[in-house]
Amino acid sequence: MSRPAAKKHAGAAAAHVVPATAEAILEAGALLRAGGLVAFPTETVYGLGGDATDDTAVAAIFAAKDRPSFNPLIVHLPSLAAAETVAMFDARARRVAARHWPGPLTLVLPRAADCEVSLLAGAGLDTIAVRVPGHPVAHALLNAAGRPVAAPSANRSGRVSPTRAEHVAGELGDAVAMILDGGPCPVGIESTVLDLSEGAPRLLRPGAVTAEALEAEIGPLDAGDGSAGVTAPGQLERHYAPQAPLRLGCAEPQPGEALLAFGGVVPRGFAAVLNLSATGDLVEAAASLFAHLRALDAAGATGIATMPVPDDGLGRAINDRLRRAAARG
Ligand code: TXA
Ligand code: MG
Repeated sequence: MSRPAAKKHAGAAAAHVVPATAEAILEAGALLRAGGLVAFPTETVYGLGGDATDDTAVAAIFAAKDRPSFNPLIVHLPSLAAAETVAMFDARARRVAARHWPGPLTLVLPRAADCEVSLLAGAGLDTIAVRVPGHPVAHALLNAAGRPVAAPSANRSGRVSPTRAEHVAGELGDAVAMILDGGPCPVGIESTVLDLSEGAPRLLRPGAVTAEALEAEIGPLDAGDGSAGVTAPGQLERHYAPQAPLRLGCAEPQPGEALLAFGGVVPRGFAAVLNLSATGDLVEAAASLFAHLRALDAAGATGIATMPVPDDGLGRAINDRLRRAAARG
């Protein structure tokens, strides 16, 4: 989808890189509000940011990274108070947030009841990863955007995280409306990810905020994935799956079965039909995937049949998700 605000910067890749002046940051905030993608420095690595409340912007992030699966994204906010509007904080979460924010710590918490963040950003999970970055450019951008910003590291899937603006330009230049250049990232490795969503705290990803520091503040951490190193993208055990069994293929509807359709030619005979994209647009399909699965569940379908989705670009991530959900049933 072309957006007027993004077009202004759609020249050669080098033209996207803009020194992070106050003026450029305000413009980047406007680009985010218009649904565009902006790469920006944080103290850890450069992030590829999009409006976390906009399903289509979040789908565009996955498309730009060329990720073969939907890994949940970290939602960036300018303050603890702002983070409390999207996630539920308990006493432990408030304690570590007060100690380490702004800074290189991400907290996985239950989603707030009235959370406006896109289901796709959280890969359909009931939890949400939140972080208040300490980098002054990131902080100013989040204030300028005025809404939560979903941002994975600004690298293509399978590549190392970028710590300079030129790394981003080399890999993602065409996909972003603007790359804010704030110099090299001081920390250089991704944030520590701490899961406080239920039971014992779990270290999902080691980072600059050490396990020892966290244990001193909230007690023993469940060794969990942390001892084994970085949780690989897409390898999370917990993923949203619909209650109704999912069946890949749409031949011969079963009684009470709903259809998750794709494209303009939809078979008849299903109890309910929701179309991921009538025009066959994969970004639109990704944007509606989790919301449609939940809606078909809520409508009481006995099962959900799925139409084939082309296995390229974002289609690979959609098919990966559907295959996982079908295998569980
Ligand atoms: O330093 C960082 O965290 C950078 C900067 C840009 O903030 N961001 C970053 O994002 O590294 P990303 O998407 O590359 O890594 C996010 C990590 C993944 O390992 C993902 O599985 C985990 O956070 N994550 C996100 N949401 C989660 C959730 N709800 N439950 C468990 N893990 C989650
Ligand atoms: Mg990453």
